Amino acid sequence: MTYAAASLSRRSYLKLGAAAAAGAAIAPLVPAFGQSATLPRITKPIPSSGERIPCIGIGTNAYNVTAPEDMARLQQVLAGLAEQGGAVIDTARVYGRSEEVIGELLQKIGGRDRYFISTKSSIGGPIADPAREVQTAFDRLKVDTIDLLLIHNLHALDQLMPEFIRAKEQGRVRYIGMSTSVDGQYEAQMAGMRRYPLDFIQVDYSISNRGAAEAVIPLAQERKMAVMINVPFGGRGQGSASTFARVANRPLPDWAKDIDATSWAQVCLKYIVSHPGVTVAIPGTTQMDHLLDNQAAGRGRLPDAALRREIETYWDALPAA
Ligand SMILES: NC(=O)c1ccc[n+]([C@@H]2O[C@H](COP(=O)([O-])OP(=O)(O)OC[C@H]3O[C@@H](n4cnc5c(N)ncnc54)[C@H](OP(=O)(O)O)[C@@H]3O)[C@@H](O)[C@H]2O)c1
Repeated sequence: MTYAAASLSRRSYLKLGAAAAAGAAIAPLVPAFGQSATLPRITKPIPSSGERIPCIGIGTNAYNVTAPEDMARLQQVLAGLAEQGGAVIDTARVYGRSEEVIGELLQKIGGRDRYFISTKSSIGGPIADPAREVQTAFDRLKVDTIDLLLIHNLHALDQLMPEFIRAKEQGRVRYIGMSTSVDGQYEAQMAGMRRYPLDFIQVDYSISNRGAAEAVIPLAQERKMAVMINVPFGGRGQGSASTFARVANRPLPDWAKDIDATSWAQVCLKYIVSHPGVTVAIPGTTQMDHLLDNQAAGRGRLPDAALRREIETYWDALPAA
């Protein structure tokens, strides 16, 4: 079973909606986030297929856990993701036990078809066997199908891509692509985008880091590739360099109401996914209150081009953190 097999034919959503309307036994594990739960969910199309996915997912580079209390907390977060109408989970081989944790927890939660799973090949070191490299992701995630397989930071791009293409032809992988999160790799990333038939790229982009919008995202639009945005808040553990540090203790400007945003996280995420070339953002999320906040950004109105410029002007005038 894959995400598309049930949910994006809309059967799953319809079934859930009908069941909920009939008061059927789909007990919510998490509360709705204020008024936002009543606002329409925003989905965006994957250009190569037309399939639509929810525009806010989660990143899991901090899912390298083993303690039962940590596993239980992350199980609630992953269950909450689907309950809130989200679907996309991004992981990678290099995030310690993250792939295995997701595999174990999704087996406990059930409903594989409610999740769109994205993972990546190894980063650094020689790749001895490309077929084994791909198979390892299936083994660790304990799934038959992977929704999106990315080459991580372009590592061994030309060696791995034929195997990625083969896995897609076999139907084991639904979409393929590559990721980076550093400006220094943009040129090589764009060369790869011109060389290979990618469905997705993953790249860093945020209100405080807009370099990808200059050439990388426009090239993805031109080549009809979906764009998944990593480090939307500037990256985990950035302290005073994080995006949030710039706006700490500042009230939301009046225009936040016009886009149904009730937190700075929602403003930052809505700014990102309102770029016409962006498909989905994957904020790293290990806490339930953050999940609910971020999923609320995936509902309601997004800024138009004029408000996007106003947000940029506001941001650029802020004092450094
Ligand atoms: N080259 C690549 O392919 C690449 C590179 C980097 C990252 N990535 C992917 O991108 C994902 C995101 O990057 P990231 O996790 O490093 O950075 P990030 O998404 O920019 O920031 C994550 C940090 O923000 C916090 N946070 C999340 N939602 C929040 C909210 N609503 N309010 C306040 N704080 C909030 C998280 O806290 P909690 O954990 O406590 O919820 C975490 O400390 C990664 O997890 C990974 O999947 C890919």
